[in-house]
Amino acid sequence: MTPYAPYAARRARLCAQMLPGAVAILPTAPEAVRNSDSDYPYRHDSYFYYLTGFTEPDSVAVLVAAHGDQAAQSILFCRQKNAEREIWDGFRYGPDGAKAAFGFGAAYPIDDLDGEMARLLANAPAAYYALGHSAALDLQMKTWLQNVRRQARTGVSAPGVAHDLFALLDEMRLFKDDGEQALMRRAGAISGRAHARAMRASRPGMFEYQIEAELLHEFRASGAQYPAYTPIVAAGANACVLHYNANRAQTRDGDLVLIDAGCEFDSYASDITRTYPVNGRFSAPQKLLYELVLAAQSAALAAVQPGRRYSDIHDSAVQVLAQGMLDVGLLDRAVYGSADDAIAERAHLQFYMHGTGHWLGLDVHDVGAYRDMAADAKPSRPLAPGMVLTVEPGIYVRPAAGVPEQFWHIGIRIEDDVLVTADGHSILSDSAPRLAADIEAVMRQR
Ligand code: GLY
Ligand code: MN
Ligand code: MN
Repeated sequence: MTPYAPYAARRARLCAQMLPGAVAILPTAPEAVRNSDSDYPYRHDSYFYYLTGFTEPDSVAVLVAAHGDQAAQSILFCRQKNAEREIWDGFRYGPDGAKAAFGFGAAYPIDDLDGEMARLLANAPAAYYALGHSAALDLQMKTWLQNVRRQARTGVSAPGVAHDLFALLDEMRLFKDDGEQALMRRAGAISGRAHARAMRASRPGMFEYQIEAELLHEFRASGAQYPAYTPIVAAGANACVLHYNANRAQTRDGDLVLIDAGCEFDSYASDITRTYPVNGRFSAPQKLLYELVLAAQSAALAAVQPGRRYSDIHDSAVQVLAQGMLDVGLLDRAVYGSADDAIAERAHLQFYMHGTGHWLGLDVHDVGAYRDMAADAKPSRPLAPGMVLTVEPGIYVRPAAGVPEQFWHIGIRIEDDVLVTADGHSILSDSAPRLAADIEAVMRQR
């Protein structure tokens, strides 16, 4: 089996989209101090990883597009090997090792970057980098360009144009290749099992953080490196706080627990939400709203088809939710004659105030345009095979005049990860029980 090594091919595809002879510069993420002399766990930059597969800090990739009879070049700057530091911090590839292992045409010590950039940028027609993302990179660019301009008397010219590198990479990253799909399937499967484990472990009286620990256990025990984002474990009324992540309250009999948690596996995110009764049985009002969110999700999933527009997903969910809000009495039929009326008046926003999903990939809120930016009206973008997105409708009922009390403090979201395929879609997060009956069945195994 050939190893999964798409990086050199991605670099070639990027170079083919650049102006002849132009130079692309892409640093990885910096290390970040947490406190005193402790760092946050290091996470490479997603763009850099996408093009290199290289995970060491202090690295910069530089690509030069082909021009004339010059082939495209792909160069890595990275840390040198260091026997002393490797005793303390572990293995480093060093330029020679990294060049061979990651398929670069050349590799140099990171300390040579400034000198080499003056050479690489000389006479290049354009530079591609992340415009306006990093003050550090902007400053480096200024220094490098000044160093090139200093050579002007010898006939050397500096790039006269800057292009946004991320615009090209965003479009490439939006379409996941087979290897990425396999990793995302694995991330989804692990996270789904983690949700099932959390359900089986839950008992009234447990603290939210104890349930969170079950998720984290399953992530790590399955080889996932990190949570893809801070897990939300929200019992009872906490579920109505959309970004709640204190995770320190005690659950009570009768509470629903909303868990929004997904692992990152080999740099790819999963993002799953499940909502379940901590005592293992949905009450009647909980069940009513649960079935409504589930129906909204089914309608939204049905819109995940190649050729349908991205906005169809949200519109489908909102249609079902608004009708349901009228049916169960969350919205007043005497005020809104139909779901369309309620939507036109934006009445549904009282209980459903977020979008129905986002792209998913190396980042949990992954990159990629949501609209067709080439068209005048910038319509929502048609879905196409290889895109991966979340479908995550919900309903959140805060106490208010006119809102039936039986629904107060109920917060429900159901979120799955979905790959657009040639003939429809494939759900990557199916290992997490979704139907109310399946959730209750899993919880009876306690
Ligand atoms: N967990 C972040 C989100 O659902 O978008
Ligand atoms: Mn999400
Ligand atoms: Mn989520």
